[in-house]
Amino acid sequence: MIRMPPAARPERRLRIAFVASEVEPWFKTGGLADVVDALARALGRAGHAVDVFLPAYRHVRRPPGLERSALAVPVADPGRHDEGDVASVDILAARADGYRLRLVEHPFSFDREGAYGKGGADYADNGFRFALFCRAVLEAVRADGRPLDVLHAHDWQGALAVVYRDALYGSDPVVGPAATVLTIHNLAYHGWVPRERRGPLMLPEETYGDAFGVDLLREGIRAADLVTTVSPTYAREALTPESGMGLDGDLRARGDRFVGIMNGLDTELWDPATDAALPVRYALVADPGRGVAEVAAGKAAAKADLVDRHGLDLATEAPLLGLVGRLDPQKGFDLLTAAAPAILGSGARLVVLGSGHAELVAGLRALAAARPGRIAVVERFDRDEARRIYAGSDLFLMPSRFEPSGQGQLIAFRYGTPVIARRTGGLADSVADADADPERGNGFVFDAASPEAFAAATRRALAWWAEADRWSRLRARVMALDHSWAVPARAYLDAYRGAMALRR
Ligand code: GLC
Repeated sequence: MIRMPPAARPERRLRIAFVASEVEPWFKTGGLADVVDALARALGRAGHAVDVFLPAYRHVRRPPGLERSALAVPVADPGRHDEGDVASVDILAARADGYRLRLVEHPFSFDREGAYGKGGADYADNGFRFALFCRAVLEAVRADGRPLDVLHAHDWQGALAVVYRDALYGSDPVVGPAATVLTIHNLAYHGWVPRERRGPLMLPEETYGDAFGVDLLREGIRAADLVTTVSPTYAREALTPESGMGLDGDLRARGDRFVGIMNGLDTELWDPATDAALPVRYALVADPGRGVAEVAAGKAAAKADLVDRHGLDLATEAPLLGLVGRLDPQKGFDLLTAAAPAILGSGARLVVLGSGHAELVAGLRALAAARPGRIAVVERFDRDEARRIYAGSDLFLMPSRFEPSGQGQLIAFRYGTPVIARRTGGLADSVADADADPERGNGFVFDAASPEAFAAATRRALAWWAEADRWSRLRARVMALDHSWAVPARAYLDAYRGAMALRR
């Protein structure tokens, strides 16, 4: 047996439960899914026991070898006809990479076309659906019988787990002692339950919500031992009425129990050296000369492939600008549409991939029709095409109106692609302007949410692009940045231990 010196002895293994509505690769609509998966894995690899709970939606990917166990959850089940007050739920468990995935199966609630709604409208019974999900998580943990150290809920869909822990499970020997952490990935989504639908939440009216209903995110913010969000700048912005989405007062009231931790990137999942979606793989190898050449060749192949498949006109060498994102006003598609004529006028080509509200790219589609060969608009969720855009673009665009953390910029860096971004939230924490700091910059930053400011930053970026030497050095620099989860995972562990100390 090897004896370890005291300093290197591993810390006590924590039992951690994640409560989340999206987890890659099992179910995803946005960046939340990647973060939950990657953080859970990083904690698991650091030796902690992590369970990740996810609803078993109709379109969830079910890993092989699921083990099924039945669970009775004390919530009135509207899907049953006998009006019982206990819902029967199945928990399906399987080993994932670094954590245990546990799907909460309740067909009435989750075997539906969409995860949150249908045809652009939320399901009217979302309050019930996610109340059941959160109660099922607590009951499943309780049934395990081993005391939990940390209950870590994500966004409004998980918020009820921390609320219930206080309201209903405070004296439970397994769940009661756990520290509760709520991470806000986006303040724009609250989970609003109107008064007439609050019944199934089983929360006393005097303590939770108001005469109109219950804001699940607000209740989570009030109840959690510790509240976090996904970057330090967004944490500061969230305290202001302009960005707090009505919750700035609640967040201010939490004082130093509200902190921002910048997300990392899973550098194994996102790696141009092993990425099977790319026409040619590339890495920044140790030998700088060879690395730069390999990167240039890999990126040129990815660009040629995009140009070819989307029928872009690149008769003369021109920069290709890429954007990948949820089609959501947050992401600044309107700024892109308004700035596109100026951007195209400076010779660049555009490739845009998005899924969600298609009307947000109607303007871009119209521009594409009017200027064939200049813009490619891909309206679908396509993991592999996204990877090819990160690699094949010369510059990656993030004109977000707000951005709690942002993942696109970190992926773009990893693929050797400098970023043009608005100075907001996590973009402000990760993108540094190359003109302001030529030695350390990794992109081009603008402040005003205006097409003029965006176009001006693009012009500055294209001036860099036009100088081959300077450009290849910038590329190599962004590719060498380390945004792995090592640092943020430690920050979460420190936050957990802080929250645990508060409970003791
Ligand atoms: C949300 C935010 C995004 C963040 C992601 C993961 O999607 O909009 O900025 O990167 O959550 O935390």
